[in-house]
Amino acid sequence: MTSTSVPDFPSDQDASGRQLGEEEIVALTSAIRSGTLTSTKGHFVKEFQSKFAQSIGAVFGYACSSGTGAIHAAVSAIDPSPGDEIVTSAITDMGAITPILYQTAIPVFADVDPITGNLTAETIERAISDRTKAIIVTHLFGYPADMPAICAVARQHGIPVIEDCAQAYGATIDGRHVGTFGDIGCFSLQQGKHITTGEGGIVTSNDEGLARRIRLFIDKAWGYGDPKPDHYFVALNGRMTELQGAVALAQFAKLDDSVHQRKAMAQKLTDAISGLPMLVAPYSDDQTVHSYWKYPLIVQPEIGGPVRVAEALRGFGINSAPRYIQKPAFECAVIRDQQTFGDSGFPFNLARPEAVDYAPERFEGTYSFLNDVLVLPWNERYTDEHVDYLAQQIAAVCSGVPHLDVAE
Ligand SMILES: Cc1ncc(COP(=O)(O)O)c(C=O)c1O
Repeated sequence: MTSTSVPDFPSDQDASGRQLGEEEIVALTSAIRSGTLTSTKGHFVKEFQSKFAQSIGAVFGYACSSGTGAIHAAVSAIDPSPGDEIVTSAITDMGAITPILYQTAIPVFADVDPITGNLTAETIERAISDRTKAIIVTHLFGYPADMPAICAVARQHGIPVIEDCAQAYGATIDGRHVGTFGDIGCFSLQQGKHITTGEGGIVTSNDEGLARRIRLFIDKAWGYGDPKPDHYFVALNGRMTELQGAVALAQFAKLDDSVHQRKAMAQKLTDAISGLPMLVAPYSDDQTVHSYWKYPLIVQPEIGGPVRVAEALRGFGINSAPRYIQKPAFECAVIRDQQTFGDSGFPFNLARPEAVDYAPERFEGTYSFLNDVLVLPWNERYTDEHVDYLAQQIAAVCSGVPHLDVAE
């Protein structure tokens, strides 16, 4: 028997796992003292937008009130007509899907890779029809989807790509940041992301026309600065405030460090556990760089699957989430029961039958991934002590070793 004590794991839900400090307080105080809390007049949001866009290699960046709002602005910029289709993943946050419905389009779910949980060029191609207006790709947990292959398919069909990078700050392919492969990149600044303003989002693009529509959508489509401004199309107020902008700017200065720490500690854990049988650790190399919003493991049924492993880890004081989301998005009431606008079923009532066919055999990768994935929380404040402890207990659980003696 080995005796060991459980380290305190930092949490991204409070100060223990967030890098919120003097820099944010100083910036916030300055915003408040200025008396200008709207981004239409202040400088914090503008500065955050341009610094962030530049950092990933995008020309335009527009901040907004949430990651959901970022996706909504992106979908609105594509401007689907009722019944048009947008290909996406059933393993993502619902905030990446409901904007499609609000913009009157049909989310058409493509299957995912059973190990990464990401869409692939092949699964996307199978879901494309002559009504496909866009593709939304989530880089799940911070692991980049294969954007060169996906963009090649999209280009072949003349379809724009929206990258959902809410979980993937700092993730790159061949040195290029996710969010810049497709036509639009969307990020979230929600509490648990790599950087946070509590709630918030930012949309990036290199396309001037799309960028203009994104900027307009975030601001009721009012043409500020135009010679004859008008409200050009249906749009909401999704502006970020200067209070958030001040915090965002201070957080942005810490982003590289946060990503660096997450990657370094994740690599250490992967090195320690990758020889274990019945377990697939997340993959990252110099070409395809994972940025570890979370640390997902694929757990084979032979060692009891993720539910049993999660239970055993809980016994060692380690939190983890089997399945990530409990069910694919198409099994949620909003989609399964078409809970949209009154009892109209709109826009699903316009859908081709195949576009809303959720037969399980069409989603083998999706179900396989959900059945096998175990998600460990991850944090830039994890130290060698946390990672060594995780490695030790994961090894014990996965090799069927009797419980270690854990002293609290
Ligand atoms: C992949 C993905 N897309 C979209 C969202 C929505 O972002 P928000 O919660 O900021 O609205 C999230 C947030 O959790 C997410 O993880």
